[in-house]
Amino acid sequence: MTAPSGREILLGEIRRGLRAFCLERWQSLHENYARVNLSDSGVAPLTLAELEELGLDLGGLRGLELGYGWTRGSPELRSRISELYGGEVGEGEILVTAGSAEANLAAAMSLVEEGDLVGVDVPNYMQVPGLVRFLGARARELKRTHPSWRFPVGEAVRFIEEEKPKVVFVCNPNNPTATVLRESEVEEMAEAARRAGALLVFDEVYWGSEQGGDRPSALEIAGKDVALSVCGLSKVYGMPGLRLGWLAGRRDLVERAWAVKDYVSIAPSILSDRIASTVLTRDNVAKLRKRAREIVKGNFELLLKTIDSDLLQPLPVEGGAFAWAKVPWAEDTLSLCELVFARRGVLVNPGECFENPGFLRIGLGQRQESFAASLRELVEALREARSTLERASLEAAAEVKGC
Ligand SMILES: Cc1ncc(COP(=O)(O)O)c(C=O)c1O
Repeated sequence: MTAPSGREILLGEIRRGLRAFCLERWQSLHENYARVNLSDSGVAPLTLAELEELGLDLGGLRGLELGYGWTRGSPELRSRISELYGGEVGEGEILVTAGSAEANLAAAMSLVEEGDLVGVDVPNYMQVPGLVRFLGARARELKRTHPSWRFPVGEAVRFIEEEKPKVVFVCNPNNPTATVLRESEVEEMAEAARRAGALLVFDEVYWGSEQGGDRPSALEIAGKDVALSVCGLSKVYGMPGLRLGWLAGRRDLVERAWAVKDYVSIAPSILSDRIASTVLTRDNVAKLRKRAREIVKGNFELLLKTIDSDLLQPLPVEGGAFAWAKVPWAEDTLSLCELVFARRGVLVNPGECFENPGFLRIGLGQRQESFAASLRELVEALREARSTLERASLEAAAEVKGC
């Protein structure tokens, strides 16, 4: 076997059937070297000192024994999480996981078998599409398209009713397009799923960031008879370093997923469990959601003021902490991102990582104090890259003429 190189690391296969996870690897390769990091999808992480202000007793952690704890999450934490779902699920219907990434893995592995027909939302974070293809499912892509980038609900409903898939995986609010499903759309899908005996798995890790204000989770709207919810503390709540997520839904389904987790991480970190159990009060949840919305709203307004539409054309942000923007002058956005990073140390995510070249995902979660400067750097870096690409294409045209 030869070592993969260049684009292969991002876009090739790790082994037969398992595509590289382009987005995660792109960020891992660059984020710790970036001078200006606009690649994150969550809001600025909180410090332990900020968590202290939210009621965390740091001194009290000194006596904590670093054991395995409760492998499916402590009852205290599961009961806090169940409160988020307005009574739709009890603490026995929650599995705490190592980030929502593990919840997605456990859901996909426990629900999807070789040959199963499943629907997947594309573009998406791309973990679930990658996993279901690897699991040998017959994956039907439910494609969001330019210019609305909304989930094709009508097509999904027809697909559910006519072809009776086992599961449909939806990312809502959607990463990378920052669009949000309407309640009526979730209801429509839930009714179709109920009639067809299908399940809906909503990756809702950006739930709570909706710019339109608080709304119930898709699990509450759809009902646990047909829906599962994947969520966590990494994005809206600013605690990705806790690596804390969860799967919520019907007990039998959550318990099947728990059996997968036994093979992966065994337990969430007991330290993270304790911190999350303390911090995840009703008041703090409201405060942190408000913080997330305000950061994103302010940063997006600034982005619209700073960036001309001939440079970038961002879609309105309905949820999430990022903007999905068309680059009207470049199709190969992976090369563009590589250029901008190599020349200026500015990191954004290429559309190729979402199977949609020609677009960028730009993080809007940075603390507002630093975002204006980051944005200026991004604009300069993109302008410089555009001139470089224009020069290169003129030179290439002259060479062809010369021949
Ligand atoms: C939609 C979505 N799901 C899951 C994840 C995984 O996040 P974590 O494991 O930190 O909760 C991400 C991270 O970007 C995401 O965007």
